[in-house]
Amino acid sequence: MKGVVLAGGLGSRLYPLTHATNKHLLPVYDKPMVYYPIRTLVQAGINEVLIVTGGPHAGDFIGVLRNGKDLGLRHLEYAFQATEGGIADALSLCEDFADGGDIAVILGDNTTDADISASVKGFAGGAMVFLRQVPDPERFGVPVFDAQNQSRIIGIEEKPREPKSNYAVTGLYLYDNRVFEFIKTLEPSARGELEITDVNNAYIRLGSLKWAELKGFWSDAGTFESLFRSNVFWAQKSTGQAAEDFREYLT
Ligand code: G1P
Repeated sequence: MKGVVLAGGLGSRLYPLTHATNKHLLPVYDKPMVYYPIRTLVQAGINEVLIVTGGPHAGDFIGVLRNGKDLGLRHLEYAFQATEGGIADALSLCEDFADGGDIAVILGDNTTDADISASVKGFAGGAMVFLRQVPDPERFGVPVFDAQNQSRIIGIEEKPREPKSNYAVTGLYLYDNRVFEFIKTLEPSARGELEITDVNNAYIRLGSLKWAELKGFWSDAGTFESLFRSNVFWAQKSTGQAAEDFREYLT
């Protein structure tokens, strides 16, 4: 399976940090943010990757990632998203790269220490989403479960005011090649974007969406709070120090 990292957008929620570079190149402890989703793909055995980026700092990626060999990639490509058209619009740029095959998609600001290799190896078509319980589901795509069968998702709501579960649909997805046909049928949402949630709902309508719970740490990093949380987690994990130990830096 090939992999796609979506790393476009203006990162405007992180201004002024993102005036100088793309959000996905900001530091998360000792590495640029985008290293983490690439590592998640590489650990799952994926070594051909397309990075979709955009905005005024798109060129910065080449300087940081170069040809990807140092990160364990055999092949690294870049695509440029010319408008802020949303996640599904960015994914539409990957059709030639996918070349008729399945793809693993990960949002460039999602970091996790979960191992998705079993899901990648066992993928048998359709779509697969990874869920995580969160205290603030209203910030995310939220699954609605069948009241009769709690393991079945009957729909996903994007940033609902009143979430019907406390799960977030994380920014990791596996798709078969039909994803590109579904994207072509989408209309922009109220926020003017082609929503990945609408893609997932198309698979749900066909009874072709499966899900797994992401084990371990997961966070996005698109806001100051989530960026800070990601930094604290990866600092702790990398150094083996507990969060309290970082108090020494403040004295
Ligand atoms: C996007 C998706 C949302 C998903 C989230 C995960 O949200 O639209 O469904 O739960 O990524 O990070 P956005 O980053 O556009 O707010």
